[in-house]
Amino acid sequence: MALAAAAFMGVACCMAATGRDAATEARIDSLMARMTLQEKIGQLNQLNAARFDTLGAAVAQGRVGSIINEVDPEVVNSLQRKAVEESRLGIPLIFARDVIHGFNTVFPIPLGQAATWNPQLVEEAARIAAVEATASGIRWTFSPMMDVSRDARWGRIAESAGEDPLLNERMGLAMIRGYQTDNLADPTAMAACAKHFAGYGFSEAGKDYNTTWLPLPLLEDVVLPPFEAAAGAGVATFMTSFNDINGVPSSGNSWLMRDVLRDRWRFDGVLVSDWNAITEMINHGVAADKLHATMLAATAGVDIDMEGHAYPDAMEALVREGRLDETVVDGLVRNVLRLKFRLGLFDNPYIDLSRPSPAYAPAHLAAATRAAEEGTILLKNGGMLPLGLKPGKVAVIGPMADAPYDQGGTWAPDLQHERSVTPLAALRRLYGEENVIHAPGLGYTRDKSLDGIQAAVKAAREADVAVCFVGEEAVMSGEAHSMADLGLKGAQTALLEAVCATGKPVAVVFMAGRPLTAGKEIDMADAVLYAFHGGTMAGEALANIISGKANPSGKLPVTMARMTGQYPMYYAHKNTGRPPEWTVDLDSIPVEALQTSTGCTSYYLDAGKDPLYPFGYGLSYTTFDISAPRLSASSIAIGSETPLTVECTVTNTGDREGAETVQLYVRDLVGSLARPVKELKDFRKVTLKPGESKVVSFALTPGQLSFHGLDGKPLIEAGDFQVWTAGNSVDGTPVSFSLTD
Ligand code: GLC
Repeated sequence: MALAAAAFMGVACCMAATGRDAATEARIDSLMARMTLQEKIGQLNQLNAARFDTLGAAVAQGRVGSIINEVDPEVVNSLQRKAVEESRLGIPLIFARDVIHGFNTVFPIPLGQAATWNPQLVEEAARIAAVEATASGIRWTFSPMMDVSRDARWGRIAESAGEDPLLNERMGLAMIRGYQTDNLADPTAMAACAKHFAGYGFSEAGKDYNTTWLPLPLLEDVVLPPFEAAAGAGVATFMTSFNDINGVPSSGNSWLMRDVLRDRWRFDGVLVSDWNAITEMINHGVAADKLHATMLAATAGVDIDMEGHAYPDAMEALVREGRLDETVVDGLVRNVLRLKFRLGLFDNPYIDLSRPSPAYAPAHLAAATRAAEEGTILLKNGGMLPLGLKPGKVAVIGPMADAPYDQGGTWAPDLQHERSVTPLAALRRLYGEENVIHAPGLGYTRDKSLDGIQAAVKAAREADVAVCFVGEEAVMSGEAHSMADLGLKGAQTALLEAVCATGKPVAVVFMAGRPLTAGKEIDMADAVLYAFHGGTMAGEALANIISGKANPSGKLPVTMARMTGQYPMYYAHKNTGRPPEWTVDLDSIPVEALQTSTGCTSYYLDAGKDPLYPFGYGLSYTTFDISAPRLSASSIAIGSETPLTVECTVTNTGDREGAETVQLYVRDLVGSLARPVKELKDFRKVTLKPGESKVVSFALTPGQLSFHGLDGKPLIEAGDFQVWTAGNSVDGTPVSFSLTD
């Protein structure tokens, strides 16, 4: 091999190791050298699919780099042809969409997928979503959302994997693998997008788009780890968040986007703003105008302006006036071109329209059914469930029993609700129409009318059992849908009270986008299933669980509070100086009670100290025993290369096969900062036959016991720890160990 070629290959191998390859960088160099400033800015401009004529003209003039929300493959190819064959340099477009939990085949919302605690299943769902979406020309999805969410008032908790950073990380990485595969140039691969970077889930008071106050320990211990893992796993893109962090809007946050994302994490993909988020820095009051907003965003390294019209309107003037150096623009453009090369769009820009549509393939629907089954949580069961295959007459009641659109949940723009299998349809098919008596009771979940309740009561009276489907319409959760009261809306509670008053066995099934404060309704039911909007096959999955064809294995990815006022509420809380050993109930407090009579500890007089159901909780139709952890040693040195092995034995002590999720929690008893009372460090879902036992083994490294100081710097401190292996965040017997210098 000639010396020059060998040198070139050497460079190629080295650069490839950092995720870049010399050949692509050389192609970028060559293209950049020919681009005008306007064409460069065009690559940074993302527009919403609109009237073909105006958008088509802009594309042909090289003023658009990517398009969001075009899902007609014919139109995609037409616009792509304008970019590739009519624009001066023929740079292809990227077509993007919010494929958040499925495309044609809609899976459970991300919170429901998190409830499966099954990353392999979540990866399979993302792969199916990519296969379906790329068939329509979508090569970039704005998913996974990795925002840790601890306040169910925030509607976007629906799009998260809940309150824990590890669960958000594992589920987010599974989605990234499913979307991107290990070859982004594969025509069925989609660029994933780690969003919203960062801290959006901590919007003050759970009000969407609100400010956040995030001290460095919280940022570094809880908010950033899922995103760092995404960057390390090769996620192709990031998205800025709408919120400000401590007064700095993310789209102008150079510390977050340059120091952390680019320098510390070595991310070399694309950073896209959220919708109009650059221009919204004017509303935030940190930019005087679009010129200023553009300056802040470009300096922070935001590559693409999504529908903000800041870059296209202001960037050229800033460069011409010498206020923004063109090399900064070049850096942004390189990231966009690199993504297009990685996606293989220069070599393969068009969709193969001859490819048969993969939409709703039986395997896709089967996977969606499994995901909805595994994401359903059995909260309570006095023995009523499962009903079996011949339960007699079943009254199917409630506004969510036959809601094909609403069971799809938030962010399901491509859901074809006529494809949805509702609980009513599935139960009719399973038990026979003659054995199902349907009475919705309400027209929809917010319906305040009591007119339909008597018919529901009549149905329950005529049946042997009643199953009531309640919860939230899709529009009640997701973006811009925060709630100040998480109780059931409309006359749903009155409906349940009337049906339960018949004395018939009543199972209540919640279908919602978030945990609701439903303690009263749960108390009146004989059995309760909780499903976070389950998607296309939600009804099939619920019928399988209700009948017993499937055994529920879902676990809560979020804490279920008793009252809205308890939020933000999460298991990994601090102990405080006054942890409540006992509490008093509001109504038991005597009149003229002494000031100190309620214990002077940290709890609510009207809600107590505990949630309704804790993080990680979920029952099964069988029972399990999880032993206390057995450790490979009673201590581990901070510098140890060998992890501490933590193992336990999980046994199916019941009479039917089931799956249990063994959760590993640790507690740092004393730190230089107060540490959470528990932190999830690993989990494993295992399926066991009746009587079967398995040993589950985890490796616990010193690094997993580190945290960050007030200055945001990593700390690892010798000291005493406790470790649990349990089926939720409250059970189990702790075993002690120490971390030594
Ligand atoms: C929305 C959301 C973001 C989404 C984007 C594009 O406002 O905040 O999650 O990906 O705009 O639809």
